[in-house]
Amino acid sequence: MKHVVLGVSGGIAAYKACEIVGLLKKSGCSVDVILTENAERFVSRLTFETLSGNRTVVDTFERPAVYEVEHIALAKKADVFLIAPATANVIGKIANGIADDMLTTTVMAARCVKVICPAMNTAMYENPIVQQNLDKLKGLGYVVIEPAEGLLACGDTGKGRLAAVSDIAASVAKLLEKKVGCSEKKSDYSEKKVLVTAGATRETIDGVRFISNYSSGKMGVALAEAAADRGAAVTLVAAFVKDGTKNPNIKVIPVKTTSEMYGAVLNETPNQDVIIKAAAPADYRVKTTFENKIKEKELTLTFEKNPDIAAAVGKIKTAKQALVIFNAETENLIENARKKLKSKNADMVVANDVTREGAGFEVDTNIVTILTNSGSVYDYPRLPKREVADIILDRLSELLGESW
Ligand SMILES: Cc1cc2nc3c(=O)[nH]c(=O)nc-3n(C[C@H](O)[C@H](O)[C@H](O)COP(=O)(O)O)c2cc1C
Repeated sequence: MKHVVLGVSGGIAAYKACEIVGLLKKSGCSVDVILTENAERFVSRLTFETLSGNRTVVDTFERPAVYEVEHIALAKKADVFLIAPATANVIGKIANGIADDMLTTTVMAARCVKVICPAMNTAMYENPIVQQNLDKLKGLGYVVIEPAEGLLACGDTGKGRLAAVSDIAASVAKLLEKKVGCSEKKSDYSEKKVLVTAGATRETIDGVRFISNYSSGKMGVALAEAAADRGAAVTLVAAFVKDGTKNPNIKVIPVKTTSEMYGAVLNETPNQDVIIKAAAPADYRVKTTFENKIKEKELTLTFEKNPDIAAAVGKIKTAKQALVIFNAETENLIENARKKLKSKNADMVVANDVTREGAGFEVDTNIVTILTNSGSVYDYPRLPKREVADIILDRLSELLGESW
C-alpha cells in the first residue's frame, strides 16, 4: 500500500487537512498525520486519528506503544511527505535546516519526495524571506503547490489560500503513481492524434552560414515518445534534433526554417487532437540572404519577424483541440508564462527558467512549472525529460477531463 505522511502546521487552513486525509484514503493510501503543537490549537489530534485510522503524533519525545524511534520510522515509511497547510514558520524552519519538533525532525529524516502547500496571509506569502525560502526548497527538489488567490480568513484578498484540496490530493496521487506504479503502462492517449514540434530551426545567412539557437530537441522527442508509448498516433515536426526518435511508429516531418515548420504545423493542425509546441523556432529570419559565402570586411544584417506558429494554431484550433506551448525564460517566469498562455490561446504552458542548472537546452533534465488555463500552477523539481514529458501528458489529460 502507498503511504503518505501528512504534516499539518498551525494555520487557519489546518481544518482543510482533514479533507485531504479523506481524499488520500479514498485513493487507496494509508496516511499518518503529524501535527505541530500550534496545528493542534486549530484541529484536535482526535479528528485526524479518527479520519486516518492511525495514531497522530505531535511530540517527538512521546513514547509510542510499540517501541521505535518514531520520526525515523515514519520518515522511512513515507512514499510522499505532504505538508499542508505549510505555515511561513514551518517553511522557514525546513528551508534553514531547523528540526525542533516532530514535524520538522521527520521531514529532515525523510528521503522521499516532499510536497509543500503554503497557506498564509498575502503579505506573509509575498514577503521576500518566505519567497526565498520557497525558492531554496524548490531548488532542493521539494515540490511546491502554489497557493490560490481569493478572499483570505483575515479579510484580505490576494494570493495565500491553500491550493484546492482536490488539486493537492491529485498531485500526491500522481507522485505516488510515478513512484510506486512506474512500471504500469498507460494507454490514456490511444486513439488520440498528437503533433509535437522539436528542435531549433535554422535561418540562412549565406551559402555556408545560418542563425539558430541552443535547443537540442530532447524535450520534444521525449514528449513524442511518451505520447506514442501511451497509445497516441504521433507526428513529430523536427528541426535539426540532435538525437532523433528511434520509435518507428512516430511519423517524422523534417523541417529546416521557421517558415517550413509553420507550414508543416498548420497543414497538420486540422487532423490533430493535441498540438505540443516544444520546438524553439527562430523568431527572426535574415531579410536578404546570400547564395554564396559572404566575404565582405563588414557586414550588416537586417532581420524580419518569422510567423508566430503558436499564435496561428491558437487562432484556428477548435474547442476539441488542445494546444500546449513551452516558454523558456531568463526572468519573470510565471508572469511571462501567464501572459503567453492568454495571448496564444493555449490550454497549458510549460515554463522553464533556462538559467537554472539542469533546466532547458541541451541537458537531459528539466525543471518546469506548468500553468493551465483553469488557473492551476504546478511546480516540479529537476527531473529527467522523459519524466517531465509524462507529467505534461498527465496534466493535460486531467485538464481535458470529461471532454477527453
Ligand atoms: C488565528 C490564526 C491564524 C493563523 N493562520 C496562519 C496561516 O494561515 N499561515 C501562517 O503561516 N501562519 C498563521 N498563523 C501564525 C502561526 O500560527 C504561527 O506563525 C505559528 O508560530 C506557526 O507554528 P507552526 O508552524 O509550528 O505550526 C496564524 C495564527 C493565528 C493565531
